Amino acid sequence: MTVTIARHKTAMSRNMLSRPVARALGDGIIEEDSRVLDYGCGRGGDVARLERLGIHCDGYDPVYRPSTIRTASDVVNLGYVLNVIEDVGERARTLKRTWDLTIRCLVVSGRLESEAKGLEGASHRDGIVTTAGTFQKFFTQTELRDFIEHTLQQHATAAAPGVFYVFRDPTAEQGFLARRVRRTSASRSRIVLEQHEDLLVSLVLPRGDERSQFAELEAELGSVRSAFSFVRRATGDERWDRIRVGRSEDLLVYLALSRFARRPAIGALPPVLQNDIRDFFGSYKAACAQGDRLLFAISETARVNEAMRAAPVGKRTRDALYVHTSALAELAPILRVLEGCGRVLLGAVDDATLVKFSADRPVLSYLGYGDFDNDPHPALKFAYVSHLDSLHLDYRDYSEHANPPILHRKELFVAEGYPTRERFARLTRQEIAHGLYRDPTRIGTRNGWAEALASRGVQHRGHSIVRIAKSD
Ligand SMILES: C[S@@+](CC[C@H](N)C(=O)[O-])C[C@H]1O[C@@H](n2cnc3c(N)ncnc32)[C@H](O)[C@@H]1O
Repeated sequence: MTVTIARHKTAMSRNMLSRPVARALGDGIIEEDSRVLDYGCGRGGDVARLERLGIHCDGYDPVYRPSTIRTASDVVNLGYVLNVIEDVGERARTLKRTWDLTIRCLVVSGRLESEAKGLEGASHRDGIVTTAGTFQKFFTQTELRDFIEHTLQQHATAAAPGVFYVFRDPTAEQGFLARRVRRTSASRSRIVLEQHEDLLVSLVLPRGDERSQFAELEAELGSVRSAFSFVRRATGDERWDRIRVGRSEDLLVYLALSRFARRPAIGALPPVLQNDIRDFFGSYKAACAQGDRLLFAISETARVNEAMRAAPVGKRTRDALYVHTSALAELAPILRVLEGCGRVLLGAVDDATLVKFSADRPVLSYLGYGDFDNDPHPALKFAYVSHLDSLHLDYRDYSEHANPPILHRKELFVAEGYPTRERFARLTRQEIAHGLYRDPTRIGTRNGWAEALASRGVQHRGHSIVRIAKSD
């Protein structure tokens, strides 16, 4: 087999996992017992880091590790390789080769046009040759998806900007898509755990003498099902009903979005989902019909705007709603589907802090701010703006901006259970008391805010306001 080695003299060097591999780990695509092949691994940084995590990983690279035997693997990573290959035919052959080696999931990443800004080079074929003599093809998100789907004749799922998953097994793909919309039940399970800790702990983890009590309890209760109804009676219906509503909403959101990946037959869904669907909706057909209605509803501006107005969390302005990424599951299903459409286009945006829903137009923005938890007024670093009507994607980099927009009233963006919400709210009260919000038109950017603080003779110490000591 001849391999065209791209005009790429130095492989990327970094001291942590590459973004696609980190995402695949986070998404449960790479698991502890997975066998991974890193195809075009460069110097093998990802290989070494995965091995350190106890995950079996082979690395192949025509320059750095040409002698590795390429064996079929559960997960194959083709990380930032396509963009260094000049010849389009060889790009396609390389992609096909990796697909042939994939048992479960192929992870394909490419550099995006948004990363090309400021990079100089002579135009060459469909890319550029940089001043360092390396070829780079910069893709748009849609172009990369189309290239993968056209070459492999397989559906590609956006995992993140510039990163796609191609699944061998449709059930695994559906499992991933369903997990992605499932609300993080942390807050709900925490409430239940906190209130019924003793009872649940002795049911789940009986110790010593509890074990005999548990045996008695078990005998008394008869079966697991009646144990559950016992717990339900003991804890009251309302909370469990809320969990049930939440889970059926998760399913509807998932089914609405499953339209984009050609909706699978029910048999292709993970068994847990099949059971939930029958339990909540009676039949798959009825559930899909509801999912469709939800999906079509997102084109009804009045309904979207109504859901934005009624949102239980988020900061509302005249023309947008801003919500912290941790609170998305608190929103009405119609907004979750709208946001899900953004993710179908873009995947999950690493480091996004807020999602902005625009009123009156189908535009979603993923905004990355500095250290949201620790910086009292973090500055905007980047924005991915996805136009759902034209499928156009914009990236704006604010990291070098001299006077970037900053956030105020952080408590508004997060849900009630957010650990530092009260600290944020306390700071806002202090800032209001110091008159810092009197001229809202001036404080939206870092410089304007610094002037407002200086004019009041105060500064921040963490999430508190203190007077600036007068120097002698
Ligand atoms: C930008 S580096 C990426 C390295 C690594 N995957 C990462 O994410 O850090 C691109 C790598 O692709 C390799 N490469 C170039 N052409 C290739 C081909 N046809 N097949 C496999 N790998 C290739 C290069 O040798 C180079 O190490």
